[in-house]
Amino acid sequence: MGKGRKARKKDRSFAQKRRAKENKWDEKAPRQSYEEIVRENAEFENYYKLQQICPDEEWENFMATIKETLPTAFRITGSKSEARALLGIVKGKFFKDCLLNPSQPDENSQKIDKEIEQKKPICLPWYPDGLAWQLQLTRKDIRRSEAYFRLHNFLISETDCGNISRQEAVSMIPPLLLDVKPHHKILDMCAAPGSKTAQLIELLHAEDGRFPTGFVIANDIDNNRCYMLVHQAKRFNSPCVVITNHDAAVMPNFTVTGTDGTLTMLKFDRVLCDVPCSGDGTLRKNPDIWLKWNTANGNNLHGIQSRILRRGVEMLSVGGRLVYSTCSLNPLENEAVIHRLLVDTRGAVQLVDVSSQLPGLKYRQGLVHWLPTSRDMRGYTSYNDVPEKWQTQVRPQMFPPSPEDAHKFNLERCIRILPHQQDTGGFFVAVIEKLRPLPWEAAAKALPAESEEQEQGGNEKDAANSTSEDKVPWGPQRKRRRTHGYKEDPFVFFTEDEPLWPSIRDFYDIDSLLSPTCLLTRCNEGKKKNIYFTSLAVRDIVINNHLTIKLINTGVKSFVRCDNKSMDCAFRLAQEGLHSILPYIGPKRKIFVTKADLIKLLINDDPKFPPEADTLDPSTQEQLKDISQGSCVLVYQGEDNPSSGGDITRLTLAMVGWRGAKSVRAYVPISDCVHYLRLCGADVSKYEKNKFIKNPSVAEEKSGEKIAVDNETEVKDEDRNEEEEVGMLGEPT
Ligand SMILES: C[S@@+](CC[C@H](N)C(=O)[O-])C[C@H]1O[C@@H](n2cnc3c(N)ncnc32)[C@H](O)[C@@H]1O
Repeated sequence: MGKGRKARKKDRSFAQKRRAKENKWDEKAPRQSYEEIVRENAEFENYYKLQQICPDEEWENFMATIKETLPTAFRITGSKSEARALLGIVKGKFFKDCLLNPSQPDENSQKIDKEIEQKKPICLPWYPDGLAWQLQLTRKDIRRSEAYFRLHNFLISETDCGNISRQEAVSMIPPLLLDVKPHHKILDMCAAPGSKTAQLIELLHAEDGRFPTGFVIANDIDNNRCYMLVHQAKRFNSPCVVITNHDAAVMPNFTVTGTDGTLTMLKFDRVLCDVPCSGDGTLRKNPDIWLKWNTANGNNLHGIQSRILRRGVEMLSVGGRLVYSTCSLNPLENEAVIHRLLVDTRGAVQLVDVSSQLPGLKYRQGLVHWLPTSRDMRGYTSYNDVPEKWQTQVRPQMFPPSPEDAHKFNLERCIRILPHQQDTGGFFVAVIEKLRPLPWEAAAKALPAESEEQEQGGNEKDAANSTSEDKVPWGPQRKRRRTHGYKEDPFVFFTEDEPLWPSIRDFYDIDSLLSPTCLLTRCNEGKKKNIYFTSLAVRDIVINNHLTIKLINTGVKSFVRCDNKSMDCAFRLAQEGLHSILPYIGPKRKIFVTKADLIKLLINDDPKFPPEADTLDPSTQEQLKDISQGSCVLVYQGEDNPSSGGDITRLTLAMVGWRGAKSVRAYVPISDCVHYLRLCGADVSKYEKNKFIKNPSVAEEKSGEKIAVDNETEVKDEDRNEEEEVGMLGEPT
């Protein structure tokens, strides 16, 4: 990887050039810190008053809230049992401490009471299972209060290993409304940096114990930002994710193998169009937008947003669902884009009424009327009134339906979230369902499919009767096919007779249900170092599309070369891929450990002195008799929770271990190690950063109890790299 990025450096897209231009503009603007920025912009206020996005009686509240700093929001992820256990820890230990230790203990008690009330973590009522929270956590709080400092560090450490996702509250809404099921084929068209992709991956894996047959293709036009997606996807270790790098407006079609074995065009069950936007809904987080906001921004984005949405519904299957979202308040980027699609598709798609799907969410219905406005703040009710000099900026397709026609489009089904409604950012979401093939798709189908070129070109007769945008052919506009692939490292799948496979299969006692053809490496020649695993569906996509689609990454690292003489296999297990491979690993390499053993193994961080086998529980020692030296799996199965009401709450933890000649050790990244210790109820204070320890008396005084912190461990842990498992825990001996 990486070579390709260099090679394509000069190939700058329109969006990249535009961004470069914007940055130039930025360079001219005086640099100001966020605190210094005056949170005012008369044009912004005039424009949104004109558009009537907020009732008059709420306007002041709206303007006051949008100038305030945004609260922190996060959600707990992972399997149901793990998420529930972690939720218990957050609500118990961390939230309680914060409420007992307000950030300014020297203030008078009335002020403290008010502060406690304001700082109370709020459970987001519309997010399932009480797993998403919002709280006012300022830098000042983190600096001054030990309880907030520890909460903050806890959130960071659990985010690192993918058990918590910090994400703006409103940004959690689009994936929820997509109604994802484990078998869905999902396309995230503008995915970077990937907070919604992460949520989609979680939703795909939501059913404990069932391996999803669906997948997520996460795409972004920006090559550098695609690597943010790689990082994001790695936190979730899913073998059902593919990352691609294309302009979503001209996203190429994917080919897949159909149930009858023939190649067909892939249509997606779910599409997320979280399009690039002016971002004025994020003013609370990005106050620099106050300095640059103007009406032209929204107008200029309407075109690309429409093209991406249009391509999104083309790639959607009939019966499938698409969510269009922006973090903009501007109707030109929102309802106008949706209206344009509804006009163009002539009843083939419709807005879905999702009013009952997010109980407790406060929002306003979509606008049915808006005023396209030129840079000089003149609003127009008809394109005929637009002066020639503004006609490139205010386009005919931007106008709202006439009052008589408005009812046909159900634009009120769109969801607008204003910041003051529940102390969030501003957001827009529309849910679209595809009822039948689009007019130009249907027309193309009616033609004998002589060539793909012809099919993608659409039907001239239909085009003659259509709106201007219909004339844009169906499918991606870039017809030139790449025949030599892209310059990422290759994706080389094992064949059934891969020479490496028998030794891995036999050593790990792997079930024949796991096909070696789902394993791949990223090199054609030389010694294979890492072996990745993908689902069957993802394998099919990679194999059928690697020449035409710019694939950036896929697969989860499952085996790593480890030429250790004491092990009868050249590869050890990798923690990242363990959960994918685990169902296939036989009893020969599994050790079921007690909680006390697990804590002992995890807490040991001295590679030279791993826990001796004879210090472990007799039941563990008994199993060890039959397990040869080398990489293995440690499994801990918690007690059933009788208060669960029949729900799955039995906590099961599995991690990579190492069976030495006389010892056993856990072989997991430090962040996972701390996470598992927390779930076992062990003391993890030695891993937690705690600057308050510099003056232990302060810590003692504040909490009323001694807090055990090992400063040396702390610094060492900070330097540890999650990826470098070997460096972290020592090469097994
Ligand atoms: C609003 S952000 C997406 C945020 C993302 N969905 C998330 O939740 O983290 C918009 C993204 O669209 C990408 N983008 C802009 N133009 C695009 C295009 N024509 N095709 C695909 N991606 C595009 C940008 O690089 C940016 O990463």
